[in-house]
Order: sequence, then structure tokens, then C-alpha cells
Amino acid sequence: MKRLFITGGAGFIGANFVHYWAENHPGDFILVFDALTYAGNISSIEPALADERAVFVRGDICNRELVEFLLGEYAIDTIVNFAAESHVDRSITGPDAFIKTNIQGTHALLEAARSIWLNGHGMPHRFHHVSTDEVYGSLGPDDPPFSETTPYAPNSPYSASKAASDHLVRAYHHTYGLDVTTSNCSNNYGPYQFPEKLIPLCIINILNGNPLPVYGDGLNIRDWLYVEDHCRGIELVINRGRAGSVYNIGGCNEWTNIDIVHLVCQEVDLAIEASPSLRESFPDAPASRGAKSRELITFVSDRPGHDRRYAIDAEKARRELGYSPMTDFDKGIRLTVRWYLDNTRWWQEILDGSYRDWINRNYGSRGIEL
Ligand code: NAD
Ligand code: DAU
Repeated sequence: MKRLFITGGAGFIGANFVHYWAENHPGDFILVFDALTYAGNISSIEPALADERAVFVRGDICNRELVEFLLGEYAIDTIVNFAAESHVDRSITGPDAFIKTNIQGTHALLEAARSIWLNGHGMPHRFHHVSTDEVYGSLGPDDPPFSETTPYAPNSPYSASKAASDHLVRAYHHTYGLDVTTSNCSNNYGPYQFPEKLIPLCIINILNGNPLPVYGDGLNIRDWLYVEDHCRGIELVINRGRAGSVYNIGGCNEWTNIDIVHLVCQEVDLAIEASPSLRESFPDAPASRGAKSRELITFVSDRPGHDRRYAIDAEKARRELGYSPMTDFDKGIRLTVRWYLDNTRWWQEILDGSYRDWINRNYGSRGIEL
């Protein structure tokens, strides 16, 4: 039985991971630790928190004393670090929070873990760090995909801060013998993704009849992975990964942005065309008046320093862990569109600010709850 400390567990991938782990390891204890920044949403994990083996603490990973206290108090043996500032565009307009959370926060977590786990008792433990393929930089059209030995070349403040955190994790293994693993994953999509990222942004803008902003020429390429497949990959790394090792996780699924936007348009149109109640709920969606969502596509100025292409070589994870993605892209996009159609309250409360008001009322606008 494991006792997990899941940081950033109220965010997109963290919340999916909390559900995944609770379902697949029902005897394990889970402590979700999250600062509930703009990207954190406690309603995403409400069903999991109903279980008595789950606890939520609002807190900042930079708060080493609090983390250290909780690791000891709850006899935690596994940290899974999702907590991060994660949006590239925000890192360009305001890098400070990225340096603080992604670098200083990871360092504070490592220090707390070192103090609790390497204090002479030799307690079995695992510190798993969730990272990104963006640390490897940008690929040309014919370059081979990123492998675990591709040199780091981060291009945005976001990816630079993640690269720094990866190096710290590596160093704590090499220098102190902390039992760490790191996974570097490609673009995730699926339920609970904050509607600033490409896919949920497009779904929701279509439903509200708003423009679909495509950066530059729309030909940048990303590798896309359904979030549950990422969660399964992390589970395999935690359970079977070698201490000190890095594993790339990807979907072997490269798409240009414009093709993704077209696919999302098509899926939403099909759903609306088949449903009078959706037409009634979303009268501004093009399909509700017999038009096509692709008419909303608007090419806008490019993201500064926009990486052209990411691709992942996940052969090491396949060979050592038996990992391969299970959800094909058509199915994953259909499931994702369906989730946003079935969970309008989740994203409408984010858009109209009522969720943030509720958090401030129940958790305070800042500070730590114990
Ligand atoms: P997200 O932005 O949806 O969620 C981040 C979570 O971390 C939020 O709940 C937020 O409240 C919390 N958080 C932020 N700062 C914190 C702090 N100082 N202390 C405690 N909690 C804090 O992010 P995501 O998309 O779920 O990404 C999770 C992790 O996975 C990140 O480390 C990211 O770099 C990595 N990653 C993301 C993707 C992707 O496609 N989204 C792909 C590969 C790797
Ligand atoms: O590769 C993994 C990374 O994927 C993670 O590390 C990041 O946390 C995650 O946010 C994601 O980064 P991207 O920058 O690739 O994701 P985003 O959804 O912001 O953008 C995907 C692509 O779509 C990118 O090429 C930029 C483009 N884009 C994005 C938005 C928000 C648009 O063209 N228009 C948009 O409005």
C-alpha cells in the first residue's frame, strides 16, 4: 500500500491522476496538495475526496516547512509532483511565477523529501517529477523525435523553468541518493483541462460562437496524448521505473494545430447537429444555425519564440515498462468534446468567475489551510 502526496492534484493532469490512482489502487492513501491558483479546481477532484483515504490541503510547494510537516505527519512514501505554472503564453507575459513555483517550488519539495526520507532511517520512497517534452526545444520537419538523451534546449520561460526543475531532481538523486524518477510528456488533452489551452479553448469558443485564434500559420506540430494514457505511464514509472531514470511518454500522434482545430470543429458540429437540446443550450454555436464552426477560425499573431515541432520517442518506456498509449486520437477527441458538453457547469463557473468567488469564500483568497 502506498501513501501518496500529489502536488498540483487539482489541476488538469493532477486531477485525472487522482481519479486514476483512486480507481486503480483503492487501498492507497492520497494527500492532494495544491495552492488552488487560477488553474486549480477543487471541484475536479470532489468525488475522489469523498473517500476517507483522501485528504486535501491547500498549500504552496514553496512552503518547505508545511510540506515537510505533512510528509512526516501522514507517513508519505511517494511524491508525485504535478504542481507547476504550465501555460507557455503566461510565461511570456509574466515569467516570475514560473521561476518561483517551477524552480524554487520543486527545490523546496526536494529539500523536504530529503529531510524526511534520508534522515538515517533509509525509508523506501519515490519522488516522481512530472515534466514536459518542451525542455528539448524545437524540431525541424525531418528531425528524429526527442529521446531521453536529446540535449536540453528550452526556448520559453516555461520550458526553461521546467528544465531547471528536471536538473534539480536529477542532482538530488546523484548527490544525495534520493529515489527519483522523471517523465517528460507531450501535449495532453482530455477532461478538466483549463480553457486557456488549445483544445478546450476551441470547444468552448465554438459553443459560444467566439473566434478560434490560430497562432501564425497554424502549421506548428505537437504530439498529442489522451490524459488517461499519461496517467498510466506515470503509474508505470512510479511502480517499475528505475531510480534516477528519465522516461519520455508520448502518443506517437503528431498533428498540425490547424488540423486539430478542424477536427474539433467537426466533432462539435456533429454533436450539435444531432441534438436539439444542444442547439437550444448553445444558440450562438455555428451548427445551431446550420453553419460550420470552421468559419470561426481566425489567424492571429504568432506566439513569440513559438516552437515549431515536438515529437516523442517513447521506446524506452515501451521497452522497460511495457508502456504504450491506448486511446486513439479520434476517440480521445470525441470523449473530450463529449466531456465539455456534459460538464458545462465546470467551465462556465470558471468563465463567469463564480468558481473563484466560491474558493475565496471557502478557502480564503490566499494563505494555507491545515
Ligand atoms: P495545470 O496548470 O492544469 O495545473 C497545475 C496545478 O498546480 C493547479 O492545480 C495549480 O493550482 C497547482 N499549483 C500551481 N502552483 C502551485 C504551487 N506553488 N503550489 C502548489 N500547487 C500549485 O497544469 P497541467 O496541465 O495539469 O500540468 C501538470 C504538470 O504536467 C506540470 O508540471 C506540467 O509542466 C506538466 N505537463 C503538462 C502537459 C500538458 O499538456 N498539460 C504535458 C507535459 C507535462
Ligand atoms: O508539450 C507539452 C506542453 O504542452 C506542456 O508542457 C504545457 O504545459 C502545455 O500547456 C502544452 O504546451 P503548448 O504550448 O503546446 O499548449 P497550448 O495548448 O498552449 O498550445 C498548443 C499549440 O496551439 C501551440 O502550438 C500554440 C497553439 N495555440 C494555442 C492557443 C492557446 C494556438 O494556435 N492558439 C491558441 O489560442
